Amino acid sequence: MPPRRAVDGGPGRRNTGLEERASRVLRGVGVREGQTVLDFGCGEGTYAIPAARLVGNEGLVYALDQDRAKLAELRGKSEAARLENIRIVRVIDRASIPLADESVDLILLYDVLHSWYHPHSQQREDILHALYRVLRPEGLLSFYPGDPEVFQHRTELAAIHREIARAHFCLQSTHAETLIHEGKVVAGHLFSFAKTCN
Ligand SMILES: C[S@@+](CC[C@H](N)C(=O)[O-])C[C@H]1O[C@@H](n2cnc3c(N)ncnc32)[C@H](O)[C@@H]1O
Repeated sequence: MPPRRAVDGGPGRRNTGLEERASRVLRGVGVREGQTVLDFGCGEGTYAIPAARLVGNEGLVYALDQDRAKLAELRGKSEAARLENIRIVRVIDRASIPLADESVDLILLYDVLHSWYHPHSQQREDILHALYRVLRPEGLLSFYPGDPEVFQHRTELAAIHREIARAHFCLQSTHAETLIHEGKVVAGHLFSFAKTCN
């Protein structure tokens, strides 16, 4: 998405207001103590940091991104917070996830799977197949399409939903949520997909 002015604290600083909001979002989507969470396209860790606090010492967060600078920022934040349960993963191949099959309880896919980063349907489908592979059978994919101010193309959202369904995920619930997007609070929708369909 196009860069915007961030109001978040920067490396090492903790913006407790935004972090509490992000934490509430994560509790709502089912992030719990002891889980393994994959934050695919984690950026500088708006969600990965609170996810690490929620899963606790028995849990693990894989924070995966392609952007070296954002991951460096995330590393600074996690070190300042003394979080030892975040594994930072930098990927080069945009659809490869260096994790074992069925090793993740919950995937966060927030503001990544859209035409800004992946203009071709095949790129998005490759990512979805990789995500499906690493998710446990009872696992969940939590999907936020992107900032509604920017992500206006309903037809694109419908196409992406069809791609998610083609990758064998099943839509379980949709709910309106107050999210954090590039350091700002925005209203949006979260979609929860299961790997195993009822
Ligand atoms: C708009 S940011 C969202 C960050 C975070 N998910 C959030 O909601 O705050 C999108 C991030 O996804 C990363 N990204 C996009 N496509 C990716 C891919 N195929 N593999 C890894 N990271 C990707 C970008 O580098 C960027 O950091």
